[in-house]
Amino acid sequence: MALSAEEFRRMMRRYPAAVTVITTGQAPDRAGMTATAVMSLSMEPVQLVCAINRSTYTHERLVRHGRFCVNVLERGQIAVAKLFSGQGGMMGDARFGDEAWTVAPSGVPMLKGAVLAFDCHLAQCVDAGTHTLVIGEVEAGCGTQALQPLLYLDGAWARAEKVAEPA
Ligand SMILES: Cc1cc2nc3c(=O)[nH]c(=O)nc-3n(C[C@H](O)[C@H](O)[C@H](O)COP(=O)(O)O)c2cc1C
Repeated sequence: MALSAEEFRRMMRRYPAAVTVITTGQAPDRAGMTATAVMSLSMEPVQLVCAINRSTYTHERLVRHGRFCVNVLERGQIAVAKLFSGQGGMMGDARFGDEAWTVAPSGVPMLKGAVLAFDCHLAQCVDAGTHTLVIGEVEAGCGTQALQPLLYLDGAWARAEKVAEPA
């Protein structure tokens, strides 16, 4: 017997994840969405994978454009996470305030002040239930040790805390 969707959702709320905004397209036709379902996939070739709901606007735009950037948010960027999850009602290109954004080498939007940015081309799409596993080959990346990532845990914004190993 399968676990119910409700129970699975409740369990996954306990699973901590870094908050990203996945961006695609070029002005004035950009799209972006908040996503936590992102992980490293392969080292040869260098690939990551994102699970993106097929009903999102970003999904359609990303598959059409074939390039995207995974921006890992800094813990002070909660407003960006909310905006790109649809809170506030803005859609598509209207979510991009130009002073917060620059352009990655591939031409897609890259968030200023993010902890990490992975500039990818779309290598493969795999259907998985309501979502598509979007596999990106990472062409360029940048990041800083100076900033701390924003996490999502128990349905709330959170931050990572390093703990010392027991002696
Ligand atoms: C913390 C958080 C994490 C999310 N993670 C994902 C995710 O990994 N995949 C996904 O498809 N949607 C995820 N969403 C939902 C999308 O951000 C939301 O549906 C968004 O409005 C899609 O925008 P779009 O339709 O303009 O592309 C997440 C939302 C929040 C608040």
